[in-house]
Amino acid sequence: MINGERLIERPLRWGMVGGGRTGQVGYKHRTGAQRDGTYRLLAGAFDLDAERGRDFGTRLGVDAERCYADYRALIAGETGREDGVEVVSIATPNFTHYEITKACLEAGLNVVCEKPLFFTVAECDEIAALAERKGLVVGVTYGFTGHPLVRQMAAMVAKGMLGEIRLVDLRYTHGFNAGDDVGAGEAVRWRTNPKTAGPTFVLGDIGTHLYYLSEVVLPHLKVERLLCDRKAFIPTRAPLEDHATVLMHYDNGARGHLWVSSVDAGNMGSQRYRFVGSKASVEWSDSHPDQLVYEVQGEPNRILHHGMPYLEDESLAVDRMGGLHTEGLGDSWANIYLWIAQAIDATRRGDEAFLKIHRYPDIHAGTEGVRWLENCVRSADAGSAWVDFR
Ligand code: NAI
Repeated sequence: MINGERLIERPLRWGMVGGGRTGQVGYKHRTGAQRDGTYRLLAGAFDLDAERGRDFGTRLGVDAERCYADYRALIAGETGREDGVEVVSIATPNFTHYEITKACLEAGLNVVCEKPLFFTVAECDEIAALAERKGLVVGVTYGFTGHPLVRQMAAMVAKGMLGEIRLVDLRYTHGFNAGDDVGAGEAVRWRTNPKTAGPTFVLGDIGTHLYYLSEVVLPHLKVERLLCDRKAFIPTRAPLEDHATVLMHYDNGARGHLWVSSVDAGNMGSQRYRFVGSKASVEWSDSHPDQLVYEVQGEPNRILHHGMPYLEDESLAVDRMGGLHTEGLGDSWANIYLWIAQAIDATRRGDEAFLKIHRYPDIHAGTEGVRWLENCVRSADAGSAWVDFR
């Protein structure tokens, strides 16, 4: 169980780029990072609007002189100080991730970056090599995968409780973009423009969460081929998609089905994950993250609750609230940030034994997300053809 005791030598000096007052995801970073006192927010370039960013930063408790106009000023200002930040989170639109990550790493700063990590696998490989050379960590905020019941699903699959995996059914849909984009805010405008969003809209925006979580639960399975069909129901969003279906063939013969949509009008169910084996299935949704449905063929269905002693050790080890009490998205993000902090701490200490077994969404997880997107786009652009995964 995680109880807030510090698990690393000392708190990390932390800065943020983006995630300002009007940003959607910034608070998730702050609530995750600051939960256990593992990170101290000391600097930021929080906003494209420098004045608003400074005002916001000071209200978060950051010194005015350490609220910078942009990321370049942040890097220059912080690397010139003895107490300068050592890790920077990037919570800005997709097209900025690569250049900001690169600049931070070159300046000797660890990075926590939003998904989709970058636009291309080539960029990911270049950054992975740079991080390796510098001995620095790049973590990726796949924020849903810190839930203890995600670890529970992974442990059950690893123990063979489901049997051989046959079906993978993944869905992340909502209806927030069911209408057109006339008068849409900044967060919709950049997401629907390939220059700022990258080669995809919903596939990268929400589909990468599905894909990474499935990798956490099924680390032994690899996608061999896939077929992607994508469509812009609102034509002004083309060539980007507001809806997509992906079929996947895994190397053990399993079949995967995934759909992502932001035009699923009225749906507030968000994400659903179902893993079906030859003996049993598990199903989990972020709408009811405390509960895991466990169905054994021929037996009454069971609902497993987080924090209960009947769960696997891997799940109980990352539980925060204990059974009976709600464990939600903020707790999940806190785990992700903690695991990244432990990776930074262990890297710094050269603790190879710890790093070998430590699991967290790292640069390779971010890369695999981008690789999956590249394959989806290649398939869709070929008229929804089956393509070998590469
Ligand atoms: P947003 O448009 O709501 O907010 C972006 C924020 O970054 C704003 O505060 C803006 O002023 C600031 N900003 C933009 N460019 C900047 C720059 N060059 N320097 C400094 N600040 C800058 O965007 P949102 O929804 O917060 O998304 C940001 C990133 O987070 C995206 O990559 C998105 O895919 C990802 N995201 C991830 C989520 C998750 O669950 N992991 C959830 C929502 C978004």
